[in-house]
Parts: sequence; C-alpha cells; structure tokens
Amino acid sequence: MLALKRPEPRPGVLEIEPYVPGSNATPRGATVFKLSSNETPLGPSPDAVSAYHEAAENLAIYPDSSGTALRAAIGRTYGLNPALILCGAGSDELLKLLAHGFLGPGDEAIHTVHGFLVFRIATLSAGGRPVSALESNYTADIDAILRAVTPRTKIVFLANPNNPTGTYLPFNGIKRLRRYLASDVLLVLDAAYAEYVRRNDYKSGIEMVGSVDNVVVCRTFSKIYGLAALRLGWLYGPPQVVDAINRIRGPFNVSQPAIAAGVAAITDVTHAETAAKHNERWLPWLEQEIGRLGLTVTPSVANFVLIHFPSTAGRTAADADAFLCARGLILRRLEGFRLPDALRLSVGTEAANRRVVAALSAFMGRAA
Ligand SMILES: Cc1ncc(COP(=O)(O)O)c(C=O)c1O
Repeated sequence: MLALKRPEPRPGVLEIEPYVPGSNATPRGATVFKLSSNETPLGPSPDAVSAYHEAAENLAIYPDSSGTALRAAIGRTYGLNPALILCGAGSDELLKLLAHGFLGPGDEAIHTVHGFLVFRIATLSAGGRPVSALESNYTADIDAILRAVTPRTKIVFLANPNNPTGTYLPFNGIKRLRRYLASDVLLVLDAAYAEYVRRNDYKSGIEMVGSVDNVVVCRTFSKIYGLAALRLGWLYGPPQVVDAINRIRGPFNVSQPAIAAGVAAITDVTHAETAAKHNERWLPWLEQEIGRLGLTVTPSVANFVLIHFPSTAGRTAADADAFLCARGLILRRLEGFRLPDALRLSVGTEAANRRVVAALSAFMGRAA
C-alpha cells in the first residue's frame, strides 16, 4: 500500500537547528545563579512592574495595535520620529519579520560567523540562504562582509555589539560598511546591548536611519530594561521598511502589559543608569579576575564576557561548564555559535560575580 503523503514544511525549514536558549537550571534542578542569557541582575524598574500589574486589570481588552504610547515614549527618549518606530514581541520577532519581508526564495542574507543565531534561523525560515562572513579576532570584519555580497544579497545582519563575542564596530566602520553596500541591500543593525556600551566611537545606528533608505536598527527591552519575560523590542527604520513590516506583522503582536511596562521602563532613566553603572563596575572586574586565572577573555563592551578554555582534558569548556553547574552557576555553552571551546558569562550581581571567579579559580587550580 502506498504511504499517504503528508504536509511537509517548505525547503529550508528543516535545515534550521532549533535555537537552544541559555539554560535555566542545574542538573540537580537547583538554580543558584543564572548567568546564561545576558539578563540584568538588577531586574526591571519598579515602575515597570507596577505598570504591568495595573495592566492586568484589563486583560479582556485587545492591546493598542500600534503601541502608540510606547512609540511616543521611545521617540521622546531618543529624539526619534514615532512614525518610524515599530514594536515587536522581542527583537527576535522583528528580525524574523525583516527576513520574511525582504527575502524571497534563494535570496541571501549575510551574518558573521559567530553572529547572533537568530539571523540564520530568521533567514532560513523565510526561505532565504544564510551566508556566513568570517570575523577577525572575534569581531565583525567589514571587508569580509563586503566580499560575501553577491547579486542575490538582500540583507546584511549585524549585531553591534555582537552576542556572544561582546565585540563591536565603531560607528565609522558601520558608515563604511553602509557606503559600500548596494543601496537595495538592507543593513540590519541589531543593537540589543547598545545601552551598556561606554565607548566614544560607538553609536547604535539610529542616527543614520533618517538619512538613508537601507538601514534598520533593532533594539530591545530584554536587556538593560529587564523585561525579557514580556517579549518587547522595537525597530527604527525608513518609511518603506516600517510600512512593509506593518503589513506582515500580527495586528496585536505586542501585549498591553508589555506596552505599559515598556513605557514605564524607558521613562525610568535612573534605573537604566544604575544598571549601566553596575555593569561598568563589574565587567572590567570579571575580565581582569578571569584573565588572572590564565584564561583568555575577549574584551567586551556589553554585559557579558566570552571566556576561552584550553583543549587540555579536564580543562575544557565542557569540563568547566560541568564544574560550574555542579556549584549552581549556569553559563552559556556556545557550540551552536561555533565556539565549542568557550563559555559566555553574563555580568551578575556582586555575589554571583565573586562566586563565578572563585569557582573558576578552583576549577583551574585542581589537577587536570
Ligand atoms: C544580539 C541580540 N539580538 C537580539 C536578541 C533578542 O532579544 P529579544 O529578547 O528582544 O528578542 C538578543 C538576546 O539575547 C541578542 O543577544
């Protein structure tokens, strides 16, 4: 008997390796410190939590489809035109919508070799072909990206700073990349960690959006604003891009509690500044202390560090991960990012940071 045909996903879908998020629990189930997803150790602004609770009184009502209050608040904060802001269920959703809006079958989207994994997933899910450009020193290489461009290239995805490497390109580099890209290639700058960067030569790119037709910047409320559970992100882009994404997004893609909490979070400037200061204090401390243990740390401008481990048996990233996990410290394995010899560590509370360094010291000090 002939086997019945069954519905099959279209080409590309089964090439996607499902995204493996940073782990939540140790093998024994006792989470002590989760340092695997670059969440803020300070949590959200208390104002955002209150706004969220208030919004819980109206759960029967659909959200404002265009997130007017949130776009206005973002516009006020950054001096942007709210008409060119579009909100999504996390920047993950926005990246996916950009791929679906601008890639056809066989079209190519470039990402860097250790770039954020969602770029590849979004590209394949839209029927496009992901093209990987080499990095230099764990940093995006503009010339390698430009060499990867073909007549089929429709999007260049660039996380700046990049996750999981923590490295960044100065704004001059971004401008050079844009200048040499064809005007019909969309440059998507994913600036999820922009609020943490303390470098004079860094800009997220929103400054460019008003003057060119092919740059979009994605931002998130999941990191410094501490609203990862609510799924809230936004993009700032040229009118024709915003218009296209508005046509394909779900009409109620952002919930009302998320809109309300987002407005309160972005308005509480002091809370975000406190989180940035905490990071400024502990990021260099972690880099220095972990470096002292004989481990290489890639210099980071974000709220996490990339730690490289030796290949010696007993000292590998997998060994370190098991050792730390057994002590309730959860870091991020990076096989999926083509960095099997490294772990990513998010900057945590003072207690978490000290505990990680002490545990890594014990790990490096024990007999291999
Ligand atoms: C570079 C980068 N972009 C986007 C995201 C996704 O953020 P969101 O929670 O807004 O979907 C992350 C989260 O880890 C990230 O590291």
